[in-house]
Amino acid sequence: MTAEKDLHTLLATMHPVRRDGEFVYVLWPHGKPLGGGIMAAVREAEGLTVVMPRADADSAGLPYDFVGAWITLEVHSSLEAVGLTAAVGAALTEAKISCNVLAGFHHDHLLVPVADADRALEVLHELALHELEQDSGLEHPAPVLRLRTEQPEDRAAVVALTAAAFAVSPVTGLPVEGEPEEVELLRRLFDSAEYLPEFSIVAELDGEIVGHVISSRGWVGELALLGLGPISVVPRLQRHGIGTALMNETVARANAAGERGIALLGSPEYYSRFGFVPSTSLGVAPPEAGWGAHFQLLPLAVWPGGVSGTFRYAGAFSD
Ligand SMILES: CC(C)(COP(=O)(O)OP(=O)(O)OC[C@H]1O[C@@H](n2cnc3c(N)ncnc32)[C@H](O)[C@@H]1OP(=O)(O)O)[C@@H](O)C(=O)NCCC(=O)NCCS
Repeated sequence: MTAEKDLHTLLATMHPVRRDGEFVYVLWPHGKPLGGGIMAAVREAEGLTVVMPRADADSAGLPYDFVGAWITLEVHSSLEAVGLTAAVGAALTEAKISCNVLAGFHHDHLLVPVADADRALEVLHELALHELEQDSGLEHPAPVLRLRTEQPEDRAAVVALTAAAFAVSPVTGLPVEGEPEEVELLRRLFDSAEYLPEFSIVAELDGEIVGHVISSRGWVGELALLGLGPISVVPRLQRHGIGTALMNETVARANAAGERGIALLGSPEYYSRFGFVPSTSLGVAPPEAGWGAHFQLLPLAVWPGGVSGTFRYAGAFSD
């Protein structure tokens, strides 16, 4: 892979990723054979500084002050590239986050205080997005968010995206162990009789699939409705309007197709902005009584009124 030198491209595609664990700077004891999980070293006249996992320093009894989170900028940056470190450093300084930079042959690495790690990632994502949004001339036309029908060759990317989006449970806010259940649900939906190709929509940014939403056939009695979900946006681009674009596209396609209404399970705070209301207010009971106001319905232009019954999702949901 060719090392990137262009600052615009480097910033827009830097892909900051945090390594697991905590890391410390240690002054390596003179004469002690090198060992432990040393990740980087700098020799100075005064001695040898090493960066290593905190746990290794603890077990070797080595003292340290600074405890850092390790963020790698995964873009393959050229050692001759100019300005990446300065731009990243300036953005973090503005956010009052201190940062130590290490340059490897392939990537740049940032060590920031552990407590600031999440904020630092946010600042870096903002910086990359800002760069993406810049129309910096003919060489770099502004990226366009494209919404299109999902194709079979998109499946692997869509599955990976869904796994990433649901890696933290939207219900508990905690990391999910193993594969999130939405991933298997999605696979089953793709293979089900209730799969509706036109309602599996991807959002593509510069050729990368960054969002996906699927709606499948569901019913209240004999009345055919859409059951929306899962919907996923790649974590680094969440809260930038991609989910909104996917929801609006679904509603527009549903109206154009003469669909009657769309049901979903989710946060009323989020979906009410699209016109969703608790399903019970339209005479529709949730598949599980305990879902209460989280089970919502959007009546479309041709909502028939006078509907009464319990919503049934595609079989994949109960499998
Ligand atoms: C939920 C999700 C699809 C929304 O897409 P998005 O692109 O991040 O959202 P948008 O940028 O379009 O909308 C952002 C707005 O919605 C709000 N919002 C986003 N997710 C929310 C949630 N779960 N609950 C309440 N509000 C939410 C934001 O606060 C923001 O509000 P603002 O415009 O007033 O600032 C996306 O965050 C995601 O993939 N989350 C993880 C998976 C998930 O929870 N899926 C839905 C399960 S029902």
